[in-house]
Amino acid sequence: MTSTADSDPSPAASPDSAPVAAITGAAQGIGERIAEVLAAEGYRLALFDRQEITAFPDAVRVRGDVANQSDVLAFAGAVNEAYGRIDVLVNNAGIALISPADETPADMWRQVMEVNLTGPFLMCQAFGRQMLATNSGAIVNIASVAGLSGVADRSAYNVSKHGLIGLTRTLAVEWGGRGVRVNAVCPGWVKTPMDDASQGEGAYVDGDIIDHVPLGRFATPDDIAQAVAYLADPAKAAFVNGITLSVDGGWMADGSWQSLRLDARHR
Ligand SMILES: NC(=O)c1ccc[n+]([C@@H]2O[C@H](COP(=O)([O-])OP(=O)(O)OC[C@H]3O[C@@H](n4cnc5c(N)ncnc54)[C@H](O)[C@@H]3O)[C@@H](O)[C@H]2O)c1
Repeated sequence: MTSTADSDPSPAASPDSAPVAAITGAAQGIGERIAEVLAAEGYRLALFDRQEITAFPDAVRVRGDVANQSDVLAFAGAVNEAYGRIDVLVNNAGIALISPADETPADMWRQVMEVNLTGPFLMCQAFGRQMLATNSGAIVNIASVAGLSGVADRSAYNVSKHGLIGLTRTLAVEWGGRGVRVNAVCPGWVKTPMDDASQGEGAYVDGDIIDHVPLGRFATPDDIAQAVAYLADPAKAAFVNGITLSVDGGWMADGSWQSLRLDARHR
């Protein structure tokens, strides 16, 4: 994090006044890397996951379900008690569901909405109240390119991520004037256990993704974490509010047909 005269105090100068970042889904994958990157930037960490978090022994670590309001309020309370401040909330926890729309059971649809959309809303509400009380803070929601365009066989997931972008924009305009910036990062396909699980179900193979991405590779968790660190930073992203930052190697920009895309890459 960049420290300037009008930003938060330098973490290095005074560890007890270092800014605090709360991250959901931090036990593995993208969330774990976001925690590592924000820790390296000087943030004190508060981590939340339904699984046990084994890394980051110095952090506040809470086990719970983002869709359970009591768990969310308990987490926000634990963070306030331990640190007495909150600077950044990263809503990263999420679940995938690959299922044709005409076969998707209603309870599985609801479960995806609960985790991917209601959970971030509850977290924004719980931590946003604390941020609004101090007129400062940044929220970064991890959406997806699936929140910006349709991808077949992912109706619940895609709708949840479109909704998360809607929540991002709405809170950005509702809270921006009170000092709280709200933005979203939209990853393309990232190599994480979520991708392993989807490929394990036979949903796609590496080549399907790589051939579609102009940069010719999957994203890494670090690619996503660096974008989060930027949006969280009160100096670097001071005037950035309500955006969807695609970190997708050019996926969303590419309207080429497949043979043209591959020809452009290999000529
Ligand atoms: N991997 C990708 O290709 C990709 C692409 C675009 C967006 N995303 C999004 O990035 C985020 C992280 O994805 P990932 O690939 O690291 O996934 P992952 O499955 O590897 O990790 C997700 C983490 O969230 C936790 N989690 C899940 N449901 C939870 C709940 N109800 N309460 C608390 N914690 C919960 C899991 O325990 C896990 O630790 C998700 O929101 C996902 O939709 C991922």
